[in-house]
Amino acid sequence: MSRFSSFVLAAAGLLAASVAAAQQRGYGIGHKITDAQIAPWNIDIGGEDGKGLPPGKGSVAQGEKLFIEQCASCHGEFGEGNGRWPELMGGQGTLKDADPRKTIGSFWPWAPTIFDYVRRTMPFTAPQSLSNDETYAIVAYLLNINDLLPADGVLDAKSLAAIKMPNRDGFIVGDPRPDVKAEPCMKDCKQGQVKVLSDLAKSLGVTPDQKPKD
Ligand code: HEC
Repeated sequence: MSRFSSFVLAAAGLLAASVAAAQQRGYGIGHKITDAQIAPWNIDIGGEDGKGLPPGKGSVAQGEKLFIEQCASCHGEFGEGNGRWPELMGGQGTLKDADPRKTIGSFWPWAPTIFDYVRRTMPFTAPQSLSNDETYAIVAYLLNINDLLPADGVLDAKSLAAIKMPNRDGFIVGDPRPDVKAEPCMKDCKQGQVKVLSDLAKSLGVTPDQKPKD
């Protein structure tokens, strides 16, 4: 063995030993994340069952006031959409039309998702500034202007999860097209000799053109 290769081997050995030692005692940076630190990020809500909806409640009347103050400048007082900002009401029964109107009322399959979305993202310029009670109230108003909750309605976790949206069954679960139904083969997949069909694969030499020897 040349002196150079012994040097390389010795250096590699030293490096491996020091990496192993560092891994054992840790790198001395960072700390374990606490539940309190995770909590503000862990705010997703199950659309179908409302899992994760927080305690709290709010009425249509409270929601109307909040909506006019914080949302109407973009979405219009009745959710009709101001200028080119999105509309948040109407459109029910239009999804099969040439010009479907996709709103939370006509398109969204689950009511708890509206809570998740509004709490997470709106108002557009101050996301996550609404309290849970305020969010319940605003969602109550949004459902009211979509004829899905009466004007004296009050929402909490249970009543929100119980609301059935008009387009709930309008989504196809799974893709029924036969050409996308690719069953992965995990064992003895190719019977007989493998034949490489592409010239490019041959010229790249990345595909064996003979059955590999065992
Ligand atoms: C500055 C303008 C602005 C304000 C104010 C605003 N929004 Fe929005 N909102 C938007 C925009 C833009 C979108 C579309 C965002 C996207 O598609 O990524 C949107 C989307 C939405 C949607 C989803 C619509 C859909 O069908 O996809 C909801 C629900 C919504 N906003 C509710 C609210 C509520 C409730 C408030 C008040 C608390 C509010 N917004 C305040 C601009 C605004």
